[in-house]
Amino acid sequence: MPVLTRRWLQWPKLRTARARPSLGASAEGCPDIGFLADDDRHFELFAGWLHAQWSVPRGESLETRRLALRAQMRVDRLPVALTAYWQGSPAGIVSLRRHDLQTRLRVGPWLSALYVDEAMRGRGIGRALVDATLRLAAWLDHPEVWLFTTDRATFYEQLGWERMPPNPEERRQIPEPEVFRHPTGV
Ligand SMILES: CC(C)(COP(=O)(O)OP(=O)(O)OC[C@H]1O[C@@H](n2cnc3c(N)ncnc32)[C@H](O)[C@@H]1OP(=O)(O)O)[C@@H](O)C(=O)NCCC(=O)NCCS
Repeated sequence: MPVLTRRWLQWPKLRTARARPSLGASAEGCPDIGFLADDDRHFELFAGWLHAQWSVPRGESLETRRLALRAQMRVDRLPVALTAYWQGSPAGIVSLRRHDLQTRLRVGPWLSALYVDEAMRGRGIGRALVDATLRLAAWLDHPEVWLFTTDRATFYEQLGWERMPPNPEERRQIPEPEVFRHPTGV
């Protein structure tokens, strides 16, 4: 196929006409995963979780967090937020975004801000959100997804993510984050 035709077929606007990606099995004992853009009834709850987990330690406001999350209410273009519901209750959230680490701007997209409600941890919701993020990235034609973590390396290793060697630029960051990569199958 000529390169121009291929590029035209990949034009993001065409995705709006395409079926939504399958984000995971909807079965008993599994969370329901969907787009925040499709259901924002619990937007404030999700923003509150993310604010408490990551914004408060950095001294950032709830309003800044809300704005960032609102920008992720998309389906076919990054950044995108996915949400998990467990038996109808909001249970978790995750984002897929173009960049997340200043020292690794040439790779991506990045799985970011994965959060599961404390009361619902240990039921496979985190794993389901990670799987759904990989499916979304594949649907958006990204061959791999990256992430960094300062304290959850074991969690991602268990899920089959590849730990990447540190690069000299990253060593300037304290604490140095661990960087992981996972193919999407595209
Ligand atoms: C990390 C987090 C998303 C895990 O969510 P969860 O729904 O409890 O995870 P799951 O139930 O899907 O667990 C999947 C597997 O990882 C393991 N796991 C869960 N939390 C783990 C942790 N903190 N460290 C190591 N392994 C962990 C589970 O035992 C499970 O293994 P199994 O399949 O062999 O039983 C959740 O603890 C959380 O939101 N933490 C606060 C925010 C955070 O740290 N996010 C990650 C930022 S990098």
